[in-house]
Amino acid sequence: MSNSIITQLSQHRSIRQFEDKPLSSRQVTELVDAAQHASTSTFSQQYSVISVTDPEMLKEIAKITWHPWMLNGGHYFVMVADQYRNLRIAQAQGVDPYILHSTDKFLASVFDTAIATENIMVAAESMGLGGTIMGSILNNPRKMIQLLKLPEMRFPLLGIVIGYPKDKPELKPRLPKASMHFENQYHLNANFDRKLADYDRLTSAYYHSRTSNDRSETFSHHIVAELSGNRNLRSDLFAVIRAQGFMTH
Ligand SMILES: Cc1cc2nc3c(=O)[nH]c(=O)nc-3n(C[C@H](O)[C@H](O)[C@H](O)COP(=O)(O)O)c2cc1C
Repeated sequence: MSNSIITQLSQHRSIRQFEDKPLSSRQVTELVDAAQHASTSTFSQQYSVISVTDPEMLKEIAKITWHPWMLNGGHYFVMVADQYRNLRIAQAQGVDPYILHSTDKFLASVFDTAIATENIMVAAESMGLGGTIMGSILNNPRKMIQLLKLPEMRFPLLGIVIGYPKDKPELKPRLPKASMHFENQYHLNANFDRKLADYDRLTSAYYHSRTSNDRSETFSHHIVAELSGNRNLRSDLFAVIRAQGFMTH
């Protein structure tokens, strides 16, 4: 059984090439509406959305993310994990905000932010738009914090570029279900090595069939490359998150 939402979800691909056309303010509002209706942990709405429209700021973010193509997008959002609003409420009510600084509440704001981010992506795709979520704003979180003027209890987690797709990349094949969906207990069974070899062949065929950026690559190689990167990249995240007032306990 399927329906139009499931079909759309299974057709997701990140879009990195865009027509030269901005989103309308109505489209932006609809996307933020979609974000706001996402589930939110303990109904605490622990995130904020910043639309970045200043061309100079966008150029800075393109440098931070190493994604110059984002400048061709139709709109750019930064999704901010945010306990500041709730801190203000606590202060106004004379309540001890100790719990807001916990790891639990930081995680809650990360969940909220990530789920709202995906709602924006899904809503955008339903409007014929496309885009890419960008964790790469974390290449320089201090600079992002400074650019967006984000003092205590706010942390820029993800960027999202949305626009009118100029290309339709091939679908990226996902892991075999037997390697990621289990019943009752986690059991990556004895077949995993064989399944992984099959999946490596599948991903290799995908990378070769790509109309752009054709290369020899498998999922296993990709994971190895990820883990062989610069160990110092993003190594200060914990310190920056703590400096923002999060996860003090
Ligand atoms: C949390 C998160 C962060 C991501 N960060 C980046 C990024 O910084 N740059 C980028 O080009 N893609 C980024 N992506 C997109 C992934 O690379 C992409 O979803 C993945 O390769 C699967 O491809 P697909 O979305 O086309 O199916 C990110 C995705 C997620 C969920």
